[in-house]
Parts: sequence; structure tokens; C-alpha cells
Amino acid sequence: MWCADAPAKAILFGEHAVLYGAPAIAIAIDLRASVSVKKSTNWLLNGNEFNPLINPHLGHLISEFGTMQSPLSISIDSGIPIAAGLGSSAALSVASGMALSSFSGSLASIESLARAAHRAEASAQGGRASPTDTSVSALGGAVIVNSSRIETLEHRWSIDLESPDGSKHWDVHSLSLPKSLSSIPVVIGFTGNSSSTKEMVEIVANQMHQSAFRASMNEVSELSRQAIELLSQGDPVAIGEAMLQCHHLLKEIGVSSSHLDNLVEAVLPFSFGAKLTGAGGGGCIIALSNEPLSCAEAIRKSGGIPYVTSFAENGVQIMP
Ligand code: PMV
Repeated sequence: MWCADAPAKAILFGEHAVLYGAPAIAIAIDLRASVSVKKSTNWLLNGNEFNPLINPHLGHLISEFGTMQSPLSISIDSGIPIAAGLGSSAALSVASGMALSSFSGSLASIESLARAAHRAEASAQGGRASPTDTSVSALGGAVIVNSSRIETLEHRWSIDLESPDGSKHWDVHSLSLPKSLSSIPVVIGFTGNSSSTKEMVEIVANQMHQSAFRASMNEVSELSRQAIELLSQGDPVAIGEAMLQCHHLLKEIGVSSSHLDNLVEAVLPFSFGAKLTGAGGGGCIIALSNEPLSCAEAIRKSGGIPYVTSFAENGVQIMP
């Protein structure tokens, strides 16, 4: 049997703005999805019969990284909440690609796994998908995705995409976080409401022609640019303040919800800062906190589902 796992991601700064030229800063977190593959007499997914030809996402990965010739039994086990803004489908895509390619005897590179997973995300999001989720799940650590190269960072690869808003180009970089930040527990608060990234990015795209809306989006972008420097300095208080500021700006552009706002409010007394993470509408908040259990309790009291987790150094990897 061949098994691989990959981490979820949380965006610290720059969601939505990354589709309009700004940097997105995201970290891998230790909620993981694993995929295992073994020979079988018929096609099975988690023990049930399935047809890879009518499951476009998985079917595409099987033909790209494995073979349709002989049937497989594929098992998926994920600790990442679905449609919650934590990149569960990206984690499953890169883990599937790695398990399938190692089974077929030619292990795919991290870069090719990230590229294939991004193509699948982009088609699921109507052509409006940055490579943020897929790059973080593939690489682990902290990742900065920007419309041009940032010379002070380690460049990993470039990605181009034809989207409904024109041609897009992104450069993917790794950032090594100071220990003062990477050792802080990460608390996620899930509203319990799923959110459609495709719908949220459409709502934003339809308002980008309004100048007041664009001005708020420019502020999200500017904050994200400044946050790159803050992250390398490693002061959690400054990062926390910037996260809260980012939440207020995302609220201004209409991608928050009262439940997300309440969860942010609830964890503030116990954390350096908090904000919604991902596309918004529903989904999750993220808080950096040295009192993770108090944050978790506050999230529960506000009707949310807490996940106390940590920064994940490892991206997609083969499991023993
Ligand atoms: O909610 P998620 O995990 O799909 O994150 C979406 C982040 C956006 O910037 C809104 C879209 C994107 O593709 O980057």
C-alpha cells in the first residue's frame, strides 16, 4: 500500500486581494488529509465501488499520476473540515497525486503536484483561483504568492492562468518564519457553515468596478505587503494587530459574516490577533494565541467549532 498526506492551509493576509495583484501570505497547519492506494480487483473509494471516469477530480489525478489500466482501492482520511476555507480539496489533491505517483513507480515532484492540483482548483472555481492553497499544501511552512517575484524571498515556481478577468501570473515563494512566530499555537474557529469560494470570488469580482470598493481592496493589498516585513521581524503583537486590521478591511469589502465577527471578538482577549481566513462568507477564523484552550472555549461558547493546531513545517509527504 502507498500512502501520502498533506496539510491544510490558513491565509494570514491577502485573501481575495491575491486575485488582483497583491501578495497572499499563508501557512500550513497541522490538520492533515491522507490518501492511500493499493491494487484491487475493482475500483474502490473508501471501500465503495466508484468509477474514476465520472469523478472528474480524482479521475484527472489518476490519469495524470497513475494509470487507468488496472483498478485501485483508494482510501481517503481527512481531519480537515470541508468547504471551510482551509484548503481541504487542495490537500487531498496533492496527497492523491503523491500516493498515485509513488504507487506507479515514478514519484512526482512537489512542483508538478502543486501545478496539477492548481489546475483542478481553477476549473472548480470558474477560472478564478490563485495557487495559494495548492502551493502551501505541497510545500508546507509559510508561503507567499505574489503577482511578481519578491527578491528577498526564496522563489519556488511561477504559475500562469487564463481567468475570466484576463491572464494572471503568480510567483510562489517560501518564507522561513522566526521561531517567535512558528512556535505560537494556531487556533481555528469553524462557524460550522460551509462557504463557496467560487461564489465569494464572484461577489468580489462583480464589485471591483466601484471605486470605493477598489479603495478598500487596495488597503487589504497594502496591509498584506507590509505584513511580509512584519513576519520576518517576528513580533507576534504587531502581527496580531495587523491580522485584526485585515479582518476589519475584509468586513468592509463584505466577505465577513456576523458569526465570523463574533468568533473574532470572542477570541481577542486570549490572543495576539484574529481574523477570518480564506474566502469568507462562512468558513473559519484564525487566531494566534498562547492561551489556545481559552480561545477554544470562547469559540465553543460563541457557537463555533474549535481546532487547536500548530504551524506545519512539512508539506505533502509519503507516509510509512
Ligand atoms: O477559502 P479558500 O481556502 O478557498 O481560499 C480562498 C482564497 C481566495 O483568495 C478568496 C481565492 C484564491 O483562489 O486565492
